[in-house]
Amino acid sequence: MKNEYFPFPAIIENIKTETVDTKTFRVCFTDKALADSFNYQQGQFMELSLPGAGEAPISISSSPSRKGFLEFTIRAAGKVTKSIHMLKKDDYIYIRGPYGNFFPFEEIIGKNIYFVAGGIGLAPLRSLINLVMDNRSSFRHIKILYGARTPDELCFKNELKQWETISDTEVWLTVDKTGAGWSGRVGVVTELWKDTHIDPTDAVSIVCGPPIMIKFAAEKLEESGFKDKDIFMTLERYMKCGIGKCGHCNIDDKFICKDGPVFTYEQIKSFRTKEHIF
Ligand SMILES: Cc1cc2nc3c(=O)[nH]c(=O)nc-3n(C[C@H](O)[C@H](O)[C@H](O)COP(=O)(O)OP(=O)(O)OC[C@H]3O[C@@H](n4cnc5c(N)ncnc54)[C@H](O)[C@@H]3O)c2cc1C
Ligand code: FES
Repeated sequence: MKNEYFPFPAIIENIKTETVDTKTFRVCFTDKALADSFNYQQGQFMELSLPGAGEAPISISSSPSRKGFLEFTIRAAGKVTKSIHMLKKDDYIYIRGPYGNFFPFEEIIGKNIYFVAGGIGLAPLRSLINLVMDNRSSFRHIKILYGARTPDELCFKNELKQWETISDTEVWLTVDKTGAGWSGRVGVVTELWKDTHIDPTDAVSIVCGPPIMIKFAAEKLEESGFKDKDIFMTLERYMKCGIGKCGHCNIDDKFICKDGPVFTYEQIKSFRTKEHIF
């Protein structure tokens, strides 16, 4: 009988250091048939495990349009993620999934898109950003608003520069606290509203970051005229099973692992216990 908790071995093909505590791991299933047939959607997550360390839910940061590998951008936070950070190229990691719902894609074709991210929150958005970039002519104007605590904590520095060179695409960066070599903006991500025009016409927004950032960004987007149904956000909750069985991640009658992690602001506002979200 198929065991839903059974992970599959994958080999680490490449490791890229993003910041002092964050790395992007490119992995590939060792089973060729699985590697060839595997599909996922932008915004989904997987459970990553190492024997003796445990399991942790991690968003897929690569785009489903780029086949043959999976990427995970991981901050060394605790037991599992610190053990993953010790791994080297060609080491094994164990993964199951993909799980959860995902960011809309077909539904937002032809729209202007505002990505708003904080810190490692850019990781799940990168999956959709690169999917949009690989289908660039299907979308209108794109604005990426991204903030980190310090310049050193900005992830995907090379891609941020590359996205900026793509036509009709703007990247706006800010840091909470300036650092050596930084001549850019200083302030939290919502301060960017002072510098750039945010127009809700034919637009959707996709938000991810620390809970407090999501809360203030959603409020700012709403003030700018975005409808709650056009503001998408991905939530993090303490998870165990990842498949709607253990009850660790519920809010009201919803399982964040199964009904989420992507919700609209409209859905979040309808939760009775919404004060626990942000
Ligand atoms: C759907 C989903 C997607 C995620 N995607 C990523 C990702 O792409 N990259 C990444 O680095 N991390 C991601 N996380 C967070 C990651 O799963 C947790 O940090 C996880 O606890 C790490 O396991 P650990 O054993 O290393 O740390 P632990 O020992 O479990 O925890 C370390 C610290 O983080 C706290 N913590 C644990 N879980 C959470 C949580 N969900 N939210 C806030 N604080 C928490 C603990 O209380 C503790 O202080 C995601 C979580 C979810 C639910
Ligand atoms: S993590 Fe077990 S129900 Fe969501």
